[in-house]
Amino acid sequence: MTEHQAETDHDGTGEAPVFRPRKNGQAQAVSDELAAWMRTGWADTEMRDLGPIEQAPYTAKRRAALSGRFPGERLVIPAGTLKTRSNDTEYPFRPASDYVYLSGDAADGGCLVFDPRPGGGHLVTAYLRPRSNRGNGEFWLDGHGELWTGRRDSLTEAGALLGLATDDVRRLPEVLGEAPDVPTRIVRGHDPVLEEVVAGLRARGGAAGPEAGTETDTADAADDAHAAARRDEDLAIALHDQRLVKDEWEVAQLQQAVDSTVRGFGDVVAALPQARATSERYIEGTFFLRARVEGNDVGYGTIAASGPNATTLHWMRNDGPVREGELLLLDAGVETRTFYTADVTRTLPISGTFTGVQRRVYDLVYAAQEAGIAAVAPGRPFTAYHEAAQRVLAEGLIEWGLLDGPVDRVVELGLQRRYTLHGTGHMLGLDVHDCAVSRTELHLYGDLLPGMVLTVEPGLYFQPDDLTVPEELRGIGVRIEDDVLVTAEGNRVLSAALPRTADAIEAWLAGGWTPPAA
Ligand code: GLY
Ligand code: MN
Ligand code: MN
Repeated sequence: MTEHQAETDHDGTGEAPVFRPRKNGQAQAVSDELAAWMRTGWADTEMRDLGPIEQAPYTAKRRAALSGRFPGERLVIPAGTLKTRSNDTEYPFRPASDYVYLSGDAADGGCLVFDPRPGGGHLVTAYLRPRSNRGNGEFWLDGHGELWTGRRDSLTEAGALLGLATDDVRRLPEVLGEAPDVPTRIVRGHDPVLEEVVAGLRARGGAAGPEAGTETDTADAADDAHAAARRDEDLAIALHDQRLVKDEWEVAQLQQAVDSTVRGFGDVVAALPQARATSERYIEGTFFLRARVEGNDVGYGTIAASGPNATTLHWMRNDGPVREGELLLLDAGVETRTFYTADVTRTLPISGTFTGVQRRVYDLVYAAQEAGIAAVAPGRPFTAYHEAAQRVLAEGLIEWGLLDGPVDRVVELGLQRRYTLHGTGHMLGLDVHDCAVSRTELHLYGDLLPGMVLTVEPGLYFQPDDLTVPEELRGIGVRIEDDVLVTAEGNRVLSAALPRTADAIEAWLAGGWTPPAA
């Protein structure tokens, strides 16, 4: 099916634009009779009575906290826009995480605006795409009209759902332009058109740009652009800082993401015979089915890496064979319909039991993960669990004769990293690698706080062409990854339901374990 492309056409009368359908760049004829007929005969579908979304009290608190950080400034937080996949088709839309965090909204093309109020605080408005106009044909002649993409919430409905004032997003450039002197920050990277609008305001001397009417030379303009970029970056950092500690609703969402993921891993094990007859794609597809049925999507590209493919960290081609006797490394996470993702890895012996050498590698990674999980507690440095896990791996590698001790020298020089390759984990939340730009003193070099959620995911990877290891190890890759909540007392492994020891995994593959039902 090819959708009509639309073109707006102002006739100079100030009335609503007329939509003219086009197909493959060519105007398509719509008779006046058909156009008139399509305007009539529709039942009234306005004004459903909708209650607030469950997270509305939480998003309100988050907005209040952000408001307190930027008194007197206008904040622009776009949802993002559709991205072209090919020609006139687009990728499924996934709203920007900061926008979701502050609004709970899932629609495309919207934007939150925090307008500073004279008495302090902000008025927050969600600028959204309204329902499609039936009077001018937009609803069926615009490729993004509701007849093509489905009913949208009206602005009134969206306001009731989100607990926010709403307005038509098409008015936003004009609204921003009406108050050009308000210092403005925008979260970049999601809506180039709005970024240009804000840049335009700054260039005109408003929105914390240069003084109106001042001549600026090129160097001044570059300095201004630099200062504006820094101010925008500060907003992004503030949001990621704020997202580091999850509220109780977010923790429940992450648990839901993990629970669905556990069921997805159960599906994959049940589908191993079909995967053996086809390829890693069968595994990816099997997990994806669970993600789509219970959630929104997968939270990142599934890594279904069989045999030596497991030594490629981001193996997402998933087109290799699934062979008896080899290991399958499955790194996958369901993203909930509220956009929180799990991030879990299990490494499974495809024929049901580990070989001696596979189990030896597995058990060392398991021991490292146990040491890592034990180091996750409030007040402990974020780096502690990485260091604990790496130390166990280094000790094991020394014991196997692959590295020369002592262990302090090995970890100081990072020599184990030839085989461990990556860090031991990261924050988890709306993004799989969550809060990536939060301040290092709060995150990478900070201490853990209750409410943080992170992954613990040590691994060992022996490349197929690595001549520094015995042949029996070459092509083996093992990672074990779990999602861990920092609690007031220590930690809680959100993915604890999924078998993890070598024995428990063999029992699972032998049919001795099935995931808890939804
Ligand atoms: N799935 C990517 C990661 O584990 O970080
Ligand atoms: Mn992962
Ligand atoms: Mn991870």
